[in-house]
Amino acid sequence: MRNPPNESDRPAPEAPGAPGLPAPDAPESREEPGAPGKPADFDREALARFKREKTLRIGSLELKNPFVLAPMAGLTNRPYRVLAAEFGAALVFSEMASAVALSRRGKGTLRLLENDKGEGSCPFGVQLFGKDPRTMAEAAKVAVFERGADLIDLNFACPARKVVRSGHGAALLKDPGLARSISGAVVKAVPVPVTVKTRPDFAPPPEGTDPLVLTLGKELEEEGIAAITLHPRHATQAFGGVADWSLVERLAASVGIPVIGSGDIDGPVTALKRLLNHGATFAMLGRATRGRPWLFGECLELYRGAERAGPASEPESGSRPTPGEKLPKTLALRLRTGVRHAELLRDYLGEKAVFPLRTILTWYTRDLPGAAAFRNRIVRESDIGRQLEILAEALSFERVAESLRERQCGNPENDPAG
Ligand SMILES: Cc1cc2nc3c(=O)[nH]c(=O)nc-3n(C[C@H](O)[C@H](O)[C@H](O)COP(=O)(O)O)c2cc1C
Repeated sequence: MRNPPNESDRPAPEAPGAPGLPAPDAPESREEPGAPGKPADFDREALARFKREKTLRIGSLELKNPFVLAPMAGLTNRPYRVLAAEFGAALVFSEMASAVALSRRGKGTLRLLENDKGEGSCPFGVQLFGKDPRTMAEAAKVAVFERGADLIDLNFACPARKVVRSGHGAALLKDPGLARSISGAVVKAVPVPVTVKTRPDFAPPPEGTDPLVLTLGKELEEEGIAAITLHPRHATQAFGGVADWSLVERLAASVGIPVIGSGDIDGPVTALKRLLNHGATFAMLGRATRGRPWLFGECLELYRGAERAGPASEPESGSRPTPGEKLPKTLALRLRTGVRHAELLRDYLGEKAVFPLRTILTWYTRDLPGAAAFRNRIVRESDIGRQLEILAEALSFERVAESLRERQCGNPENDPAG
């Protein structure tokens, strides 16, 4: 595996910077935890307790830390998973794959499950969706024996209309007996741990009634399910509102298997707080990792005992740096990772990678001055080399420093957001 973008290859912190800005790759400043007026980031005793009491294990699979990459359709292909693993993810998931297509060894579906067992890789979970126990069991065997899956995850969570209408995903919450049969059949079919990803319920239960997952969780455990991931929004909520982590806590208290919490983790401090305060054994990171795979490294830094990740690495969503403020993340790290992402995607898709890169590369310029203008250029490019040149220009320290200086001087032509 080439050039893993680890912390150790950050350029020297003494690299020269422009006035009022950090050196391009200077480590970000660290706020004192519990400094006057600032609440402590998270309870350090709770962290020590977590490490003492929790076993980072899912069935027979031992994980090196509690941070896992969420399955995300259309996103978590092999390049995305490799990057997450390089930055320290303990477990990565494929996009959801159709059990029917996989059991027939459909080419496109097999490709979704291409695996990378190279240096720096971590265990690989394959997520399946389907509604027929036998087909799910068949597909699980293909994933394990032909694609090297270390874990099978069953999707009882997807709320997309197309998926639910055909009885898949979260629709299984309307038929818990079937969800249970599917789980039992897959557990019996494969020698690796089988997990379930679910929502609390299909729709909010009547006032004063417990959500289905509290009873279903115990039944799944009886079927041999090794862990449950809960995205604590009802399926009818899709991604609306906020994830209710009190439900993760209630589920964790009601089952004897590990619970993986998923939803609205937007930075390392949130990840630690969620993990420590809600009884989960693992924290799943999803949308926040887009163009920010180093989030895994930041979580690990905190977990391993760093005082706290610099505030600049966890910008408020939608916030932009103002003159003299720390940049959201070192530009060189963004560039190096963007280039690595592009290379991995080119290896995977060939020159067709230019199309997804039109979106992916703009993730790496997010929140920077001129981001929208660069986006407009990158999306018109049909050549990956040119896209990377544009990215390098967008992430040139001199350019960003100049834009910030101009903004500081109130140049009306300089639109900070581009
Ligand atoms: C683009 C996208 C695709 C997703 N695809 C899947 C999927 O295939 N299977 C699944 O179980 N969840 C899927 N999810 C849900 C995520 O795994 C995760 O539970 C959810 O995004 C909440 O976590 P977050 O707030 O950290 O993103 C998807 C989410 C997004 C944004």
